[in-house]
Amino acid sequence: MANWVRVASVQDVGIGTAREAIAGERIVALYNVEGQIHAMEALCPHQGGPLGQGKLNGRVVTCPWHGWQFDVTTGQHQANPRLRQPCLPVKVEGDDIFVDVSE
Ligand code: FES
Repeated sequence: MANWVRVASVQDVGIGTAREAIAGERIVALYNVEGQIHAMEALCPHQGGPLGQGKLNGRVVTCPWHGWQFDVTTGQHQANPRLRQPCLPVKVEGDDIFVDVSE
């Protein structure tokens, strides 16, 4: 069953930017790709870097610690096809962004 948690306002995540947010007991990374909000698990699988503080270039975020890159719409690592960062379902209602943290 879905567990939608409000994590931010749409205006908090400008187009082309990334942001960290708290969702219950988790940290999630939010991205705005051309007006569409996406969410991923915020801790980089390399050494736990903050993917929500990374620089977003198109659909690709770069981890600020050592430069691993992920497609934020799929979680796919850009160099290792076996590595995929979990993405979280997102919905927007009015000005509010919700993330499903049930998984
Ligand atoms: S912690 Fe993200 S690339 Fe190292």
